[in-house]
Amino acid sequence: MSPDAVKKELRILILGTGGIAHRHAEHFSSIPGCRVVAAVDTNIERARTFAAEHGIAEAFTGLDEAIAWGRFDAAVNSTPDGVHKATTLTLMAAGKPVFCEKPLAVDYPDALEMTEAAEAAGLVNMVNLTYRNAHALQMARRMVDEGRIGTIRHFEASYLQSWLTGQHWGDWRTEERWLWRLSSDHGSKGVLGDIGIHILDFATFGSGLDIAALQARMKVFDKAEGGRIGDYTLDVNDSVAMTVEMTNGALGVIHMSRYATGNLNDLHLILYGERGALRIWANQLDSRLEVCLGADIETATWSRVECPVTPRNEHRFAMAMMSGDNGQPDFRRAAEIQKLLDLCFVSDREGRMLIVD
Ligand SMILES: NC(=O)c1ccc[n+]([C@@H]2O[C@H](COP(=O)([O-])OP(=O)(O)OC[C@H]3O[C@@H](n4cnc5c(N)ncnc54)[C@H](O)[C@@H]3O)[C@@H](O)[C@H]2O)c1
Repeated sequence: MSPDAVKKELRILILGTGGIAHRHAEHFSSIPGCRVVAAVDTNIERARTFAAEHGIAEAFTGLDEAIAWGRFDAAVNSTPDGVHKATTLTLMAAGKPVFCEKPLAVDYPDALEMTEAAEAAGLVNMVNLTYRNAHALQMARRMVDEGRIGTIRHFEASYLQSWLTGQHWGDWRTEERWLWRLSSDHGSKGVLGDIGIHILDFATFGSGLDIAALQARMKVFDKAEGGRIGDYTLDVNDSVAMTVEMTNGALGVIHMSRYATGNLNDLHLILYGERGALRIWANQLDSRLEVCLGADIETATWSRVECPVTPRNEHRFAMAMMSGDNGQPDFRRAAEIQKLLDLCFVSDREGRMLIVD
């Protein structure tokens, strides 16, 4: 499709109309020149209700049916993790650019295959690593790049949720949308695949550093009789603690959990440099940046920094479609993070630190 055609209208199809898909319908509909034209879900009632709620003209029960219809320019893939690969490859084989939910796939080889397919086809490809939307993260990275905190020596990063300790996001014991996240048979890689991918991106993007070596310890906590609820075997990790060494020799600790009582959805990153420090907090709606620089280092005084607004990933995808230049974070970036997730499983199993290739 030529950029001129996109400028007139960008027609979006949403595949998978569960929880997160509502946010995509709202955001893509709010972008000038962009329209959500179709909703697809194997649960057709859900697709129809979703379409009615968001004023979407078409609802389909299967991707093949939607592709045969074909009147869309790009797709948002918001199916469960284990479904991303097959559906994204099908969309790309039909020449459709994809904005895929995270994690891109369930392991690095699959994520790499998807990346290579997207790049070979020359299609715009992005992954919704949501916390790139955090103004504070983008501002922090600019300050790191400008050398404001000097060489980074340490960092602490965490992504803390607590939906296994209460009912605040619904009843995980009965609702399918939480149960699939607890079961490897249903394509989940646990807290690591669910939010670990976010915090690894947050920490490495924010610091501007890559991980050179990592060690991970993961836990599956007892939470149901016999470790099962109905069809779901509750066998995937609930909490993961990592130590990492970065390519510049900095040390970091990274923690992610669904059992972090008292936190709903909180990301923290503190970067300790030789000449200053940055403290970032974010959730799905807001973010904050505090700094300790210059003379304030002597008194450990932190002050708040105003951060300019950052375009959301959905906007960056629409801009990539309009310009023809791929946006960030792309499939390749998500695949690189996926490689780290795979290594965490090996590290936990073998009880040792691993070098990242
Ligand atoms: N970026 C973020 O911050 C963020 C937040 C939440 C969820 N997610 C990701 O979004 C994805 C969906 O999560 P969710 O919470 O919306 O899950 P969900 O279970 O609420 O919704 C998934 C939907 O996909 C449908 N579906 C399953 N297989 C399908 C198929 N083959 N074709 C079409 N539809 C199919 C299901 O019927 C369901 O309606 C997951 O990959 C999850 O990790 C990302």
